[in-house]
Amino acid sequence: MASSLKVAVIGGDGIGPEVVNAALEVLDAAAPGCQLAVERQDFPFSATHFIETGHVLDDADIAELRKFDAIFLGAVGGQPNDPRLAGGVIEKGILLRLRFELDQYVNLRPVTLYPGIDTPLKGKTSEHIDFICVRENTEDLYCGLGGIVRKDTPQEVSNQTMVATRFGAERCIRYAFELARTRKRKHLTLVHKTNVLTFAGDTWHRTFQAVAKEYPDVATGYHHVDACCMYMVAKPEVYDVIVVPNMFGDIITDLGAAIAGGMGIASSGNLNPDGVAPSMFEPVHGSAPDIAGQNIANPIAAIDSLGLLLRETGRIKHVPAAVKCGEQIGAAVKKVTPKFAGKNLDRSGYGTKEIAQMVIAAL
Ligand code: NAD
Ligand code: IPM
Ligand code: MN
Repeated sequence: MASSLKVAVIGGDGIGPEVVNAALEVLDAAAPGCQLAVERQDFPFSATHFIETGHVLDDADIAELRKFDAIFLGAVGGQPNDPRLAGGVIEKGILLRLRFELDQYVNLRPVTLYPGIDTPLKGKTSEHIDFICVRENTEDLYCGLGGIVRKDTPQEVSNQTMVATRFGAERCIRYAFELARTRKRKHLTLVHKTNVLTFAGDTWHRTFQAVAKEYPDVATGYHHVDACCMYMVAKPEVYDVIVVPNMFGDIITDLGAAIAGGMGIASSGNLNPDGVAPSMFEPVHGSAPDIAGQNIANPIAAIDSLGLLLRETGRIKHVPAAVKCGEQIGAAVKKVTPKFAGKNLDRSGYGTKEIAQMVIAAL
């Protein structure tokens, strides 16, 4: 049985490299005890690298990244609206390109209130905030279809097209049903906006109902996305697993991060569940230029994303030592979070490196 993994590391911009380094220290501390060898290689793709060299990410880079079992990414992107990075050159050119080309069609984003973490939601505890979002990751408004004509004239026209395919919706929905089946509550909510998006939403709704027939053991529900935002704040306990298209999934998972304590806690995995290309794991947060270089970013989201990398990649690639190591890291994080009680998770006063040491001590 294999007991090694090859991981490509893209630190990225801003706090990306800081939280990635913190997470890799945790990995170095945890892996030997699990007889896991992790071979790592750094890649420079980032806004910084683009500004210095003009290079974003090309076909050869993607071919190279395909050779790895998984990719671990910090965050890419500069100051929002930096004119040198106009047109989403970094977000589209690196992040979305990798998600699309590596066919990482599921973006898995847990929303869990960890022990001791303060939620802004009054009266809610870990019992109420414990769900997971399955965000479709290769379609919707993210396809980049559309354009602008008569630019900078009073007659300017722009459009941006939402794409939903039966195939894309079905594989994501099927993944969500399989996941719901493994959980205690076995409940799956579809989130969309079928009252307005009467074409794309209809495809999703009919696909959801058809797939549901194959999973009689999973209870189902449906919420419009606006109501979902309200429920996430007022009654988050209604959710167990949510399946949601790409754009709405992006929005509700930042809200999910906030109710679980802050951006510093939210982990994610861009999964190619079939294992035909590497999956990519990254915190939900961005490069946070406002706090970069100060050793104050919370690395828990990155550490947890690394734990998710080990567990998911370990399962997909049949490396039990990786699954074990990922479980140990996840458990260590939960031992550390009570130390944030009464503090703002994202501005706790603990340093990035200090938090990594706290997790290592808890291993
Ligand atoms: P952001 O997530 O970087 O920051 C939002 C707020 O959350 C900021 O106040 C920041 O200080 C705080 N924050 C984020 N992560 C934190 C952490 N680990 N610890 C403590 N506080 C944290 O979002 P933004 O400001 O909208 O985006 C900044 C850049 O990042 C943009 O270029 C954006 O496109 C990019 N971005 C990249 C990714 C990614 O690479 N996956 C994700 C989101 C945004
Ligand atoms: C995220 C980010 C990305 C997204 C951006 C940076 C392209 O916000 O991972 O949530 O919209 O998916
Ligand atoms: Mn986002």
